[in-house]
Amino acid sequence: MTSPGRGTARRKPPHVLANAPFRRLWTAMSVCSLGDWLNLLALTALAGNLTAGDYRTQSLAIGGVFVVKMLPAIVLGPLAGAFADRFDRRLTMFAADLARFALVLSIPLTDAGYQWLLVATFLVECVNLFWVPAKDATVPNLVPKERLEEANQLNLLVTYGTAPVAALLFAVLSVAGDALGALVPYLDGRDTHLALLVNALAYLASAFLIFTLRDIPRRNVTAVTTPSVLRQIIEGWRFVGGDRLVRGLVIGMIGAFAAGGAVVGVAKIYVGALGGGDAAYGVVFGAVFAGMASGMFFGPRLLRGLSRRRLFGLSIVAAGLVLAAIALIHNLVIVVLLAVLLGACAGIAWIIGYTMIGLEVEDHLRGRTFSFLQSLARVTLLLVVTVAPALAGLYGEHEVSVGGEPVYRLDGSNLVLLVGALVAAGVGLLALRQMDDRRGVPIAADLFAAVRGRRLAPEGAEEARGMFIAFEGGEGSGKTTQSRLLAIWLRDQGFDVVQTREPGSTKVGMRLRAILLDAVHQGLSARSEALLYAADRAEHVEKVIRPALHRGAMVVSDRYVDSSLAYQGAGRALDPEDVARVNDWATGGLVPDLTVLIDTPPSVGLTRLGGAADRIESEPLEFHERVRREFRALAAADAGRYLVVDGTLAQDEISRLIQDRVREVLPDPVPREAEDVTGTMPAIRD
Ligand code: TYD
Repeated sequence: MTSPGRGTARRKPPHVLANAPFRRLWTAMSVCSLGDWLNLLALTALAGNLTAGDYRTQSLAIGGVFVVKMLPAIVLGPLAGAFADRFDRRLTMFAADLARFALVLSIPLTDAGYQWLLVATFLVECVNLFWVPAKDATVPNLVPKERLEEANQLNLLVTYGTAPVAALLFAVLSVAGDALGALVPYLDGRDTHLALLVNALAYLASAFLIFTLRDIPRRNVTAVTTPSVLRQIIEGWRFVGGDRLVRGLVIGMIGAFAAGGAVVGVAKIYVGALGGGDAAYGVVFGAVFAGMASGMFFGPRLLRGLSRRRLFGLSIVAAGLVLAAIALIHNLVIVVLLAVLLGACAGIAWIIGYTMIGLEVEDHLRGRTFSFLQSLARVTLLLVVTVAPALAGLYGEHEVSVGGEPVYRLDGSNLVLLVGALVAAGVGLLALRQMDDRRGVPIAADLFAAVRGRRLAPEGAEEARGMFIAFEGGEGSGKTTQSRLLAIWLRDQGFDVVQTREPGSTKVGMRLRAILLDAVHQGLSARSEALLYAADRAEHVEKVIRPALHRGAMVVSDRYVDSSLAYQGAGRALDPEDVARVNDWATGGLVPDLTVLIDTPPSVGLTRLGGAADRIESEPLEFHERVRREFRALAAADAGRYLVVDGTLAQDEISRLIQDRVREVLPDPVPREAEDVTGTMPAIRD
């Protein structure tokens, strides 16, 4: 689309902000976003102040500002898009900035009251509609294609990132306005005027930046056509309706935005009822966004053991619970703290939702899905933001009294927040059900395990109808013999048994085994060793173990994940957490129902081996000691899932101990008389 220069075909161009024209546009955008947020805060606050006195009128007046902000988008949206494609974009933006400057300035200058506030707001919004598509269409003119995504991320960052800054600024300006009131009579009693002046100046600054931005092509290089809103919505609905994941995401996001809208819509009234002024309103607003930013930043790193889909749904449910607390606890400081938490929950849901679409929705549908969600989010937000204060106003102020004594205040704003909370919690649960990918694993247990840094196996899940028993132990411990004996015993009980081992139970696994155990590869790095074992295991789980479990078979495996934790984690001194994570990923979280550890001192085990030592067997004794200690530690940490048997006992004694334990976990009672099929197997080298 653009011609960023000849060299870029071969090398990746530098960071998008190193591009001077884009940097200038981006700065203008940041300044404007800051102005937009300041505008929203100042106007809602001013509308409240102008109609102060009557709770109901005040709520309706604030709602009015939001309606007026939403109307132009519905009426003028498609027209403004076409305008941006036809006329000089730089001039469009410049003229729009000047117009916004004049309109916003007129509000404090004329002191004209609520009607003009509405008219001016409406006009500013109309102008915005021309500015935004002109800007969006300009970005691809300034930025090479490979950097477009990065540029869009930066745009998103300033669109939302400036909100907390604006909130802080608004709080500071309100306080400053109060203080200056003593010196400048004009500012006396007009708390929001200073904020509106700064807001107007922001648009002027942007006008200047855009005017000096001569790199925007005069005639459009590309005709960027945006499909009509209607077509977009229809196409989006088709896809969204047919896809479980996206349906869940959409439901969840609507809930999150509805809850957010409820907060934005009634925050001013609620903060007022709690005794806070404009500054406190600004702080609450800022708290939500600060929380959101941190949620977006930390969300992806949170609770890695938990499925992302579950975290998405849970964070929305959590947002609902926090919102309910906000509605019910009438204390400004606590409300501010909870607002941070609320923002964080929403931020986590937002970033995870976005990432999931990026990862799981096919490329050709992704753009539309994103844009669908964006428009849906906007419509929901504006709708709720409009309806919420109106609803709060209609309900009015109420006190719950017992025996004539007022004990608790439940105003319209509290009620609206409670409804928002209910919607969010309900919708979060619905999203959880829609897109759950770990059916059969109770959510509470899953969450609890994730908090402790673990991942639960999908018990009772469809694939786990069979039973999975793993054998572990050091070299020459006798586990190979014992696993075979157990397999025979189980078959004799009439079970369908799959006896298998690691490494090397699949086609690819056999080649990996050759690499891993061949003494020729003495210098193999510890990390590649761990990855190769994990690769063998991934293949093993997918091709052998899961299919067997799925059909209800008993799987008996000679070695599994614990071998990697012991040999690569403790033996090779890799970070045990890393090894666990890689293996968790490789196996999709499949954990054995029972692990039998045959605990044999290496000094005994190693002497049992015959033939030439392989790469691992030829490690020094301390290596094998470390491995043994780790096996024992693993068993001790989760005793219920392990059977530890002394490997120096007689072979049939060991078998009996194993059978006794396995009998306890078998799905059906096993007849006792079938116990004695042991003792005749030749000793097989471990
Ligand atoms: P194998 O000949 O199957 O021996 P064993 O009788 O001990 O099972 O070789 C497997 C070797 O691979 C063994 O020395 C242990 C090692 N190993 C690891 O280091 N990490 C692992 O994850 C697995 C499965 C095995």
